[in-house]
Amino acid sequence: MENSFETRFAGLSLKNPIIIASSGLTNTAEKNKDLEKAGAGAIILRSLYEEQIEIQTNPEQLALSHRKMNDFIWDSLKCAQIADYLKLIQESKNQCRIPVIASINCYREDTWIDFVRQIEMAGADAIELNIFALDIGKSDAENSLENNSLRITKRVKELVRIPVIVKISKYFSHTVDLAEKLQSAGADGIVLFSRFYQPDIDIHKLQANSGYVFSSQTDIGETLRWAAIVTGKLPEISLASCTGIHDWEDIVKCILCGASAVEICSTVYQHGNEIIPAMLRSMEEWMSSMHFDTIREFKGKLNFAHIEDPSLYERGQFIKYFSNRD
Ligand SMILES: Cc1cc2nc3c(=O)[nH]c(=O)nc-3n(C[C@H](O)[C@H](O)[C@H](O)COP(=O)(O)O)c2cc1C
Repeated sequence: MENSFETRFAGLSLKNPIIIASSGLTNTAEKNKDLEKAGAGAIILRSLYEEQIEIQTNPEQLALSHRKMNDFIWDSLKCAQIADYLKLIQESKNQCRIPVIASINCYREDTWIDFVRQIEMAGADAIELNIFALDIGKSDAENSLENNSLRITKRVKELVRIPVIVKISKYFSHTVDLAEKLQSAGADGIVLFSRFYQPDIDIHKLQANSGYVFSSQTDIGETLRWAAIVTGKLPEISLASCTGIHDWEDIVKCILCGASAVEICSTVYQHGNEIIPAMLRSMEEWMSSMHFDTIREFKGKLNFAHIEDPSLYERGQFIKYFSNRD
């Protein structure tokens, strides 16, 4: 009999849809073992940055990179050892039976890409590319982040056999088109969305600061909207939702919108690993009260292709809900 929580994402079989997102939560094998014990369906290791790989594999890059970075970033990159990352993969694989997914934070098609072979050889079950940058210059279609994302995905796919997952931000103008092109470039799964570091302003010291690192539950709206639209328009896509998912009801909402799995981070930092079994228990209760035996039975039930009024996810609702508000 099929386990009621079983799901497939990016070609991986997961015992349940809860994936621990790339972060400090997953930066040691011991933590990963504990996350598995708590019930996580998969873990994504903290990211290695393309700059870290470039600096250690391409000495000519050293001087160039140093000129472009502030001292803090430079120091953290210098300390990081890519050998340690491979060890983290191997040790996590030794400790865990759930899928262990490596993560690279990147934005350029460059020589760092060859390193993905070592990730595969170290035993990672998949690679997640967190393709992350803000295009703040003049538009340059050829070198846009969209095009770089497609080129990176294609190159990585040529080099490895394990599944390749692409995590993107919400700052694209044609998310469905990009998701479809990423799929054609070979992405086995798409994650919507990564969450940028948030800036803040200290009005007393008159300086720019880092903002609050954790998401809030109110961030989930865009996550739901785009899961519903993308899976409604691209029924074959394998999609995981990320950002603003803080409790079991949020997970159910994402699956109803078409997600095969969710990546969670802030809520685990805030409530500890105990939130994972609590979420699974509540989901089980909800599924049985709704007479759903499997995730498949309700996945996508409320996506763009299946709800009666798909405009709920679109612009028209702005007029209905905002313009009549006094
Ligand atoms: C402390 C912290 C560290 C993070 N580190 C990484 C990282 O190394 N790589 C990455 O792709 N995302 C990283 N993220 C982003 C998370 O993976 C996730 O995309 C984001 O927090 C949104 O999910 P949430 O709303 O569940 O927190 C980090 C987030 C936090 C809060």
